[in-house]
Amino acid sequence: MLDDALTEVRELLLAPGLTRAVAAGRRRGFTPSVTRAEVRPVTLKGGPRLQIVTDDGSRPFTRNVAPGAEASAAIDELLAEPFGNWHVSTDTVTLQLRVTKKGEAQVHRAAAAPTPAPATDGHDRQKQWLLDPGDPLFEVIGGNAAKRRQIDAFLRALAATLPSELPSPLRVVDLGCGNAYLTFAAYRYLAGRGVSVQVVGVDVREDQRVRNTAVAERLGCADDVTFVAGTIEEVSLPFEPDLVLALHACDTATDQALARAVEWRAQWTLAAPCCHHDIAAQLKGRPAPAPFGELTRHAIMRERFADVLTDSLRAALLRLNGYKVEVVEFIDSAHTPRNLLLRARRTSTPPTEAQQAEYESLTSEWGVTPALEKMLR
Ligand SMILES: C[S@@+](CC[C@H](N)C(=O)[O-])C[C@H]1O[C@@H](n2cnc3c(N)ncnc32)[C@H](O)[C@@H]1O
Repeated sequence: MLDDALTEVRELLLAPGLTRAVAAGRRRGFTPSVTRAEVRPVTLKGGPRLQIVTDDGSRPFTRNVAPGAEASAAIDELLAEPFGNWHVSTDTVTLQLRVTKKGEAQVHRAAAAPTPAPATDGHDRQKQWLLDPGDPLFEVIGGNAAKRRQIDAFLRALAATLPSELPSPLRVVDLGCGNAYLTFAAYRYLAGRGVSVQVVGVDVREDQRVRNTAVAERLGCADDVTFVAGTIEEVSLPFEPDLVLALHACDTATDQALARAVEWRAQWTLAAPCCHHDIAAQLKGRPAPAPFGELTRHAIMRERFADVLTDSLRAALLRLNGYKVEVVEFIDSAHTPRNLLLRARRTSTPPTEAQQAEYESLTSEWGVTPALEKMLR
């Protein structure tokens, strides 16, 4: 049974319709020589190739093999590894093979999802996943479909922010990492780009550190993905990160994340804020400058305006500290109302006098001092 299933996997891997395949996990009593392998077709200058990325738990290794005998031999080597799971997607079928404790094959086949229609109205309607939702990673880290979609959208924004050539090693911190869905997904995505990646997840909760460390061990990436229990404002990291991530860190924890990113001189920062109480509380009970009284008269309007003002001031402060900043929606608001993303790239450009004056006049007109400003002082 297992041999038949592996023969079917082999045929799909070598067929022209292959989109992507991932092997991971291990069979009972066996340990593959690599923790994970990913196979996908690529087109290089020399023509079509099969790209095989294997990960030995410390770093990914990429090779591109020519179709024909070279690809067949490389695929046979991979199929001989005692992986516990294979997930293969082609343009017509998705096949999942799981090897049971008894060494038998459990195969699930489904028709491939139809390719989304191209956008016709200028909006990005692309539905494809950056990280395959069938990736065995998700079996270990858990999370529901909505969380997967959110994480994938965040990764998409990350992909759009990073340059094509990444530093290696690439040092990453995920601040307020919680259950570490993003931490692991970012690691998997970045390691798949062929660079060595070191990620630290930071959360104030010790129980999260213990849980997440155990997950890293199960995924075979505990040397590269580590966790620290501590506060964002005080945590000390084993390195100065190139990339700072913060997804829905509560209230001013987002400000702390941005302040640390500036302090670490991180090259890239992506922060999706959560609730905003700091500026909202400062606006409450004080008159708005004329003629903007209507903006804060009603509680709901004041709250929404406070959200906008908070993130505008965050963007302005990052700009004053040498970052080029974009504020975008990283996912449709139907998925999460907290869908705004501040993404910043360090340029070290000093602020202009006009930028400085604009910031000062905005904060003094509204009588607010953002938490981030105090942290950056
Ligand atoms: C809403 S959860 C988001 C978790 C994760 N980033 C995600 O999107 O799935 C916010 C997390 O930030 C952590 N947190 C809040 N304030 C923090 C601080 N000052 N330092 C460290 N962690 C903090 C909380 O413990 C919680 O796990």
